[in-house]
Amino acid sequence: MNHFHYVKDELYAEDVPVLKIAQEVNTPVYVYSHATLTRHVIAYQDAFKDIPHIICYALKANSNGAIINLFSKMGCGADIVSGGELFRAIKWGIKPKNIVYAGVGKTPEEIEYALKKNILMFNVESPEELIQIDEIAGKMGKTAPVALRINPDIDPQTHPYISTGLKKHKFGIAIEDGIKYYRMARDLRHVRIVGVHKHIGSQLTKVEPFVDALKRILLLVDDLHKEGIHIRFIDIGGGVGITYNDEEPPHPKDLAKRVIPLLKDRNITLILEPGRSIVGNAGILITKVLYLKKGVDKQFVIVDAGMNDLIRPSIYGAYHKIQPVIKKDGSHKIVADIVGPICESGDFFAKDREIQGVKSGDYIAIMSAGAYGFSMSSNYNSRPRPAEVMVKGNEYAIIRKREGLKDLIRGEMIPKFL
Ligand code: LLP
Repeated sequence: MNHFHYVKDELYAEDVPVLKIAQEVNTPVYVYSHATLTRHVIAYQDAFKDIPHIICYALKANSNGAIINLFSKMGCGADIVSGGELFRAIKWGIKPKNIVYAGVGKTPEEIEYALKKNILMFNVESPEELIQIDEIAGKMGKTAPVALRINPDIDPQTHPYISTGLKKHKFGIAIEDGIKYYRMARDLRHVRIVGVHKHIGSQLTKVEPFVDALKRILLLVDDLHKEGIHIRFIDIGGGVGITYNDEEPPHPKDLAKRVIPLLKDRNITLILEPGRSIVGNAGILITKVLYLKKGVDKQFVIVDAGMNDLIRPSIYGAYHKIQPVIKKDGSHKIVADIVGPICESGDFFAKDREIQGVKSGDYIAIMSAGAYGFSMSSNYNSRPRPAEVMVKGNEYAIIRKREGLKDLIRGEMIPKFL
């Protein structure tokens, strides 16, 4: 459920006409709904209220400062994957004691930075990383709180590029090696075992893979307990899917119904790392039709957003609904490829899609663009990145300025020898 809806024939974000934003801020522009963002966080908080838990929002899904700030005010922590995300999380108000840090390639500088800030825990992805963390913590006179990211070898039944929990993936430590490396961690002087982590993939539309993976993790937790290794935090990652088209992903309540019984009577705090399910359907990308072009056997609608602004269709073949900002009564339908201005055939938002007939100057909305939209954007083809706007009730605010030409060359330097 989101707060993008039609009033008569006009698309609104909460109580603000999207057309007004497009005209005042220009396009392309990302528009986020405060009510939807809030609602999604509360859905998680309500679902898990009966057990100790921390919602560590996965910053990678959308790391805009206003969004992070909103979630920090709602009591969320953060799941981060780089020093840059740590910087943003802290800068916009997330408490370090609620930050968990995953990623297979943490650099020594990033580890030191996270240790300095006293984060909740490192989700360690390899034995070498564990040793590295121990060494750095030792040099700093600190003890690093760690969880091992365990790869439970469960098929999340999602797109291969965004599934992470199978043996063949680069992520985590194979579950059969779990005991071995927890023993290793126990014997290191400058790390303290506090948890166990898993994340098996993204855009999951069933609860079963979560449950199966958690059951495997709990067997490991029990084995560890027998060895005197006590786990305080079980971090089950993110991955709950959203409806892009006709998917029926589980609600946080459905997840809670299956997860809570497995955890109660265990003295642990649950950590969740939702990203997409919080921000995905809370954001849309508004773009303007520049040209219509009739190819030999295709109709193209050329818009002013490109794959640099929203790359999901290009790299995952992802489906995003396309909706008119103004519905035209009784207008004819066309079947078209909706494409951007970039010099690549992969620069499309939809292929052979039936949409309402459009003409140059019309605005369209690319729906479900709040997650992995702006955060994966780039300046490819030297295109300044779009503005981002947050709507709350009948007001809206720009939460990231549209980039200008100068932003494109920021940091570039001409060497003396030229
Ligand atoms: N935790 C970890 C360790 C992760 O790697 C991820 C996502 C999440 C949490 C959040 O997962 P979510 O709740 O958003 O599914 N760019 C892709 C998605 C990549 C996901 C990467 N990891 C896309 O646009 O579909």
